[in-house]
Amino acid sequence: MLRERLRQRSWQAAAVAYYFLHAPQADSNSQNEAYQWCSSCRDLFDSFVAQLERTRQAAVGALQHAWAPYSHFPVGAALLAADGTIWAGCNVECSSYGLTLCAERVALGHAVVNGRKEFVLLSLVAETEHPISPCGGCRQLLHDFSPQLLVVSEGIHHRHPALWWLDQLLPEPFSGRDIWKR
Ligand code: THU
Repeated sequence: MLRERLRQRSWQAAAVAYYFLHAPQADSNSQNEAYQWCSSCRDLFDSFVAQLERTRQAAVGALQHAWAPYSHFPVGAALLAADGTIWAGCNVECSSYGLTLCAERVALGHAVVNGRKEFVLLSLVAETEHPISPCGGCRQLLHDFSPQLLVVSEGIHHRHPALWWLDQLLPEPFSGRDIWKR
């Protein structure tokens, strides 16, 4: 599915090229295709990388403010809205553990209170070796706003990204349509 997207001249294809160039598990055929894609669509690729970098920096900045005294597992998230603005969040834990807010949820609230409801990219950062993926609850919340959201997750100490589209992470979702079309 990822390699099919590489056949397109699109932002999504740029994301896939980025993934194949940086993910250690990418096979050499995919990496070669990604190199070829980048040489034919250099501007598109560079603009994708620049947007990803801006969004990632915001997630890294938010991670520094994570309030995680119970789990000691700080997380930073940042959403790139359709208008190019970026909205960051960190996890906020609570002594009554179940009230804890994930970084993605805080980023979403940050964006919504500023009038943004359409998103193209989520950057997720944790102090882990391997990229983490958004929890089930956050998948649902984000899916309500932007089912096609691109999720790029990276451990903070290196650049081996994981890449998913939200509708891949949450197949067969519940949605507002189920409520309105009763
Ligand atoms: N956490 C997030 O902020 N985002 C995720 O995607 C997974 C988990 C937080 C919640 C809690 O503060 C800590 O990580 C450990 O679960």
